[in-house]
Amino acid sequence: MNINKRWFVVFAPFLLLQSVSLLSVQKPGNDGPIAIKVSWSSHDYDLHTIPSLQLVTNPLVSRQFSPVSKQIFANLKQLNAEYARYAVWFPYPKLAVAELNPPSGSLQCGNVGEDSVIHLSCERNGGVISQIDFASFGTSAGACGQMKQGACHATDSLSVVQRICVGQKRCDIPATDDIFGDPCVGTPKRLLVQIQCNPPQNNTYWDFTYIDPMLEDFLAATDGHSRIISFSTQPNWLFQLDTPHIYPDNATHVDWSYPVGTKFVDDSMQALGDYYGRLVAWYTRAGFIDEYGLKHNSGYLYNWDYTEIFNEIEGEHQMSIEYYTRAYDAVIQGIRRHTNNYDMKYVGMALAAHNEFSYYKYFLNHSNHAPDIPIDMISYHFYAIGTSRVDPLSYELLFPQLDNFTVEVEQIEQIRKNLSPQTRTTIDELGVILPDDNNPSAPLFPLIYWNAAAALYAYSWGKLSRQGIDVVGHSQLVGYPHLPDLQLEPQYPSVALLNWTTGEGTAKYWTSKLLIDTADIDNDQAVVTQTTDVGDRNIFSQAFVRKDLRRWVLIVNKRYANVDVTIANCTGGQMQIINEASGFGPPTLVALTSDQITLSAFAVAVVHMPPADKSS
Ligand SMILES: *[C@@H]1O[C@H](CO)[C@@H](O)[C@H](O)[C@H]1NC(C)=O
Ligand SMILES: *[C@@H]1O[C@H](CO)[C@@H](O)[C@H](O)[C@H]1NC(C)=O
Ligand SMILES: *[C@@H]1O[C@H](CO)[C@@H](O)[C@H](O)[C@H]1NC(C)=O
Ligand SMILES: *[C@@H]1O[C@H](CO)[C@@H](O)[C@H](O)[C@H]1NC(C)=O
Ligand SMILES: *[C@@H]1O[C@H](CO)[C@@H](O)[C@H](O)[C@H]1NC(C)=O
Ligand SMILES: *[C@@H]1O[C@H](CO)[C@@H](O)[C@H](O)[C@H]1NC(C)=O
Repeated sequence: MNINKRWFVVFAPFLLLQSVSLLSVQKPGNDGPIAIKVSWSSHDYDLHTIPSLQLVTNPLVSRQFSPVSKQIFANLKQLNAEYARYAVWFPYPKLAVAELNPPSGSLQCGNVGEDSVIHLSCERNGGVISQIDFASFGTSAGACGQMKQGACHATDSLSVVQRICVGQKRCDIPATDDIFGDPCVGTPKRLLVQIQCNPPQNNTYWDFTYIDPMLEDFLAATDGHSRIISFSTQPNWLFQLDTPHIYPDNATHVDWSYPVGTKFVDDSMQALGDYYGRLVAWYTRAGFIDEYGLKHNSGYLYNWDYTEIFNEIEGEHQMSIEYYTRAYDAVIQGIRRHTNNYDMKYVGMALAAHNEFSYYKYFLNHSNHAPDIPIDMISYHFYAIGTSRVDPLSYELLFPQLDNFTVEVEQIEQIRKNLSPQTRTTIDELGVILPDDNNPSAPLFPLIYWNAAAALYAYSWGKLSRQGIDVVGHSQLVGYPHLPDLQLEPQYPSVALLNWTTGEGTAKYWTSKLLIDTADIDNDQAVVTQTTDVGDRNIFSQAFVRKDLRRWVLIVNKRYANVDVTIANCTGGQMQIINEASGFGPPTLVALTSDQITLSAFAVAVVHMPPADKSS
């Protein structure tokens, strides 16, 4: 998901055109049922495309903040997804970045907003706080070692901090008026402190408090499956900045502007590689050695097969592909330095924007990488963009956007096959975003939206399977609107797969599960499937035959209306259908007593044909 409004502008003219042409199409049903005609013995293509999903970290996922975290991870586990992507995304910096402040040598600093607390400690070397270099409650600013007093400053700041901390092994200083008085009523204030220890100690700010529990839960829920771990957010102090970025003190408060800076301070990108190396060592090698040679122990000996390097690289730090490619190589070298793991596989780019063919041409060319750097997988994203939150008829306009995307995918595939045919592809964010999604006062969409977005995913997976894409990941497990009880700001509710109140699966979740349970990757073969639906305006259908000759048909209703279809000889078979009536439950199982089937609005159905020997 990107937060760049530019893409909406790009989409808008096209949506207007589509709405004119689509809404002038005749409603279905005027000419009787649509016939789905399957040539059961005509091989079309091998089914290779794994349906999967992504989970983006946020407070509602975390057992530390969420009333539905247990249900979320139980549902994830029950999916049995391969290649699930775990995206540790930037909007909650304390949930995303393990080292939020740069190492500061023998100086130790704190910088918090009002009502938060600065924690200082000299315990590591058995020392005490010997000296307060700087203390200011007010509008002071600046990085550790360069703190400068602002126009507003509580004059007693230094003496107050000296009184609380000097001579102590550790101290906690609340940034409150009670302690410092209020030097400028009505102005937001911060408390900045810089100290030194005796004996001296070197200071780093590694903190896994909020990052560990969520990753533990994800790795437990996906144990035994391949997975893609994406620590997509780099500490922003690795980038050149005029002033340090102030992030929220509270782990559940959103910060949409965390990814600032476009050039690394260390142009060799060694420091970048070291950050990622230490992070991966924390989880896979029981700990790491920090910037000053100190061991940090975690005890974790996890394993995963793919690490994705960054997210939406054109957006988050506006990287050129040349710059990104160097960073990708540096991260892999850093992980190898700190873990000695040469088996880890890597996923690159996670592109958000479209038709950036020059990115693929550069990145997939092995001559543009350092020696021994693998390009195991590339990733890119697609969102159909809604025109209205509340008008179900407008959801029909999501489907033609996917058709356009398949043209782009074809061109990317040509580039990939030319330059690096061994590189695999995961389209690891595929979903729908409704307008105004992160506006706290935006109306809630009607529940039929879940079915429309579910149908869009099933449709996308079906269409992309024809192009042999390796993985198509449904975006994303947990989103939510403004949740006043939990004091959470909206986090792309329309992209969610689960109900944020109950943690139950929506139609989107159950559609992913239906596809994961049904598709037998590299065993199923698609067979030639045609319909009488002129221009495929109403339905998508694709039939598959398994090695054991079991036969099934995926059908997606793209319309906000009932559509009748027929499949010759399906009588005696069974249908699993996800529609408004199946609600937050699994697909409804229907015994087929006729060759004619009614698909309600935006229904997704899998028809299991009766055994071949009885029907043919
Ligand atoms: C701090 O780190 C520097 C550089 O790595 C090192 O030379 C120094 O000995 C360290 N000081 C302490 C007290 O550990
Ligand atoms: C790959 O990159 C190298 C070095 O930049 C360039 O010389 C070569 O033409 C590129 N190959 C292709 C097929 O684009
Ligand atoms: C499809 O994508 C192209 C870019 O390749 C864009 O220019 C065009 O507006 C889109 N058209 C439709 C109908 O979506
Ligand atoms: C963080 O914010 C939440 C919601 O606003 C609040 O309930 C909680 O007390 C805050 N935590 C801290 C440590 O300030
Ligand atoms: C979530 O589930 C509750 C309980 O079933 C239901 O009342 C509510 O409408 C659901 N919300 C959404 C957005 O699905
Ligand atoms: C349906 O079954 C009939 C009778 O078994 C058979 O003749 C016919 O070929 C079948 N049609 C299809 C499309 O499978």
